[in-house]
Amino acid sequence: MRREDLYQQAKESLCDVGVERFNEAHRELLYHILLLQEHLEAVLTLDDQTLDWKLVDQSIDFLETYTLEHLKAEEVLMVASHYAGYAEHKAEHEKLIVDFLEIKGRIMASRKKEDVSELKDFLLGWLFKHTSCTDMEYKGKLDLSLV
Ligand code: FEO
Repeated sequence: MRREDLYQQAKESLCDVGVERFNEAHRELLYHILLLQEHLEAVLTLDDQTLDWKLVDQSIDFLETYTLEHLKAEEVLMVASHYAGYAEHKAEHEKLIVDFLEIKGRIMASRKKEDVSELKDFLLGWLFKHTSCTDMEYKGKLDLSLV
């Protein structure tokens, strides 16, 4: 299935967390995880001589930066809204960052395609689980006048 079709289908499964800016960020993350998948598939077709990791690296860098920005934006709004579940939610964000950086470090050090595949599966699983459970807990409890 083409990335665009896959994206259109998968984004329907993302939950509405009640803050449109964060919904948009979740959709953007989904799109870029699927882009990483596409770059990975391109890498998989190349032999060791012609292997070019540039697109994979760019994709991972984008996902890292965008994810960090999104998590920070949520945390700032949770704090400003005096959200009771902040500490627990932030701990989940921190665990994601640790796990993401651990897999990224392995990819940079060993250049194994399996590690990129693991990162893609990890991020996809995290995105759907975290947004449908942890993010949904703040729905209706954040101060939207501060967005
Ligand atoms: Fe949308 Fe808590 O990440």
